Amino acid sequence: MHVKSIKLINFRNYNKLDILLNNKLNIFLGNNAQGKTNLLESIYMCSTGKSFRTNKDKELINLRKDKAYISIDVIKEDFDKQIEIKLEKNKSKKARINRVEIDKISDLYDVFNVVIFSPEDLKLVKEGPNERRVFLDNEISQISPKYRYNVNRYNKILNQRNNLLKIIQYEKNKKKLLDVWDVQLCSIGAEILLKRLNFIEQISRISKEIHRKITGNVEDIDINYISSFDIEKCSQNEIECRFINTLKNGVDSDIERGITRFGPQRDDLKIIVNGMDIRAFGSQGQQRTAALSLKLAEIELIKQEKGEYPVLLLDDVLSELDEKRKKFLISTFDDIQTIITSADKIDIRDFNNINKSVYHIKEGNVLKNTF
Ligand SMILES: Nc1ncnc2c1ncn2[C@@H]1O[C@H](COP(=O)(O)OP(=O)(O)O)[C@@H](O)[C@H]1O
Ligand SMILES: [Mg+2]
Repeated sequence: MHVKSIKLINFRNYNKLDILLNNKLNIFLGNNAQGKTNLLESIYMCSTGKSFRTNKDKELINLRKDKAYISIDVIKEDFDKQIEIKLEKNKSKKARINRVEIDKISDLYDVFNVVIFSPEDLKLVKEGPNERRVFLDNEISQISPKYRYNVNRYNKILNQRNNLLKIIQYEKNKKKLLDVWDVQLCSIGAEILLKRLNFIEQISRISKEIHRKITGNVEDIDINYISSFDIEKCSQNEIECRFINTLKNGVDSDIERGITRFGPQRDDLKIIVNGMDIRAFGSQGQQRTAALSLKLAEIELIKQEKGEYPVLLLDDVLSELDEKRKKFLISTFDDIQTIITSADKIDIRDFNNINKSVYHIKEGNVLKNTF
């Protein structure tokens, strides 16, 4: 799939934008704070319904305006799709696919897929478990509507359970009410866990191959799922049983603390390179390469699951990679529409063999280079 055109009205620092994209490679150059990341953000919104930088939709609307609009045309193997998003201050955002409004904005995932790689992605390797859970949930959501639905439900039930735990601190007789939430939590939780295990197995296998190629067979990467209770080699039923038992055994501590200490909301990933946990022991370079391998694996996985490659967004990352990694990354561009931004001068010769368009962004205006 590829994006044919983008229209923006009052999105971030863009007043009005209407551009056509190359179906292979697009390079957006510009100084800092001109709107490069904003442009990628608008494309990302059309795939996920949300921003990768903020949860507050209001921030996406131009400061001097009350409404913003994004529209992109996506060319797919089967049907072409126009995706539109309307943002309005103090209202919830709306999305349309081919002019038909959709109920759940996250359904956009089923129509259009992107993979974004930005300097922020180092967080995935370096920071706390929450970053990695967000990664997991976002990535699996791209390929599974059921998973999206389950995560949503799970979080609602988890909230209810946590609220009840706090109430029980003062009203002990309400303890038996926990059963109702526990049964649902464990049933959906087991489904989520099984899906995550499957995903990790797939992404681990693909990234292993990619990582060997990038590092010239010097590094071996493994990704392990770290669960808050033992679920290794379990069926969904077994996971559910163990989950219930774990909750039952830990209920008094849960009540004391007012939180649920076991379940997918507490889990983590361990990224291991040549036998060591790179979060603690990896060099910056190794961490960056691991993040890159994971992202490239994600692209392949989406292709496997959806039958088409997603669009690749690279936000200011090219200049941070050394020659070898850069070459490897560029070699993947052949079949994938890629949209690159860079504040540094890019050596266009790196892309000599690729069909490309180059643009300059200045204060929310885009000018296309004519060679
Ligand atoms: N809601 C908004 N309204 C107007 N300008 C905005 C809004 N949000 C961000 N900006 C402006 O966008 C610019 C940053 O754009 P960004 O795409 O992050 O820059 P870069 O080109 O460095 O990636 C800043 O000048 C910022 O003030
Ligand atoms: Mg930027």
